[in-house]
Amino acid sequence: MEHLLTLEQLSKEEILDILNLADQLKFQKKNGIPHPILKGKTLGMIFQKSSTRTRVSFEVGMHELGGQALFLSSRDLQIGRGEPIQDTARVLSRYLDGIMIRTFAQKEVEDLAKYGSIPVINALTDYCHPCQVLADLMTIREFKGGFEGLKATFIGDGNNMANSIIVGCLRLGMKVSIASPKGYEVCKHIEDFANKEYPNMFEKTNDPFIAAKNADVIFTDVYASMGQENEANERLKAFKGFQVNKELMQIANEGCMVQHCLPAHREEEITNEVFEEHAAEIFEEAENRLHAQKAVLVKLMGPKE
Ligand code: CP
Ligand code: NVA
Repeated sequence: MEHLLTLEQLSKEEILDILNLADQLKFQKKNGIPHPILKGKTLGMIFQKSSTRTRVSFEVGMHELGGQALFLSSRDLQIGRGEPIQDTARVLSRYLDGIMIRTFAQKEVEDLAKYGSIPVINALTDYCHPCQVLADLMTIREFKGGFEGLKATFIGDGNNMANSIIVGCLRLGMKVSIASPKGYEVCKHIEDFANKEYPNMFEKTNDPFIAAKNADVIFTDVYASMGQENEANERLKAFKGFQVNKELMQIANEGCMVQHCLPAHREEEITNEVFEEHAAEIFEEAENRLHAQKAVLVKLMGPKE
């Protein structure tokens, strides 16, 4: 593994490898066992969008691994004044050992990897959010003990989270069903990927109750993602009925988990009641960002096996 740009680029074995290392790093942290695997290494973190979890977990993660992280806001970087990504990539490659980027276009992340000479980590684009879904998969395994035979359901926008959830859950042997309103369905590229690589494992519907039937894990995410703030009112209307609530949970399997990448908009995509009932799983998921990302950092920037 050279970069983490999308989950499609990882095999089932590579994902499991990351999750196993993440479990080990979580154990080491909980037991006070130092693990300065990235001593002397520096990660640059480019943010073109806001963040709470991603920023803090990467920064703390690098610190715990013995290295350091630099927060680079695009407002302060010359990228914000038009310096091309190709040049930024070649310059930063001469100072840093790895780059994490959160931005709009997936192409920017791909270009950073193409023109730079150090590992690049996608920390969310409009297309996908692989770091989040690695943490989600880690959490599912913690709570459910494995993946095979489980059904994952996504309720809501066919957005970056939906894309990575579909790919990650299918890769690890889960069935996936997604329910979105008309006009907000998952992109054709992901639908084709799912149907071609995992025939009979993927379902797309406009009915949340079809998707949630017999689910073992239900995911949801905000109606309006970062960059779509001006569509918020329109989306609020379009997504009516696409809510993770008590009625929906009742048709899922007993013991069904709820996962939300956060931030959550209570009483929009999820009721406060369901959120609080599943808070233990949701905040474990948030914590696991730290452990899963540390595993990714070690795989990409650590000593080669
Ligand atoms: N889930 C997630 O990526 O959170 P932040 O936007 O706070 O980083
Ligand atoms: N879909 C959301 C995820 C936030 C972590 C967004 O892109 O804003």
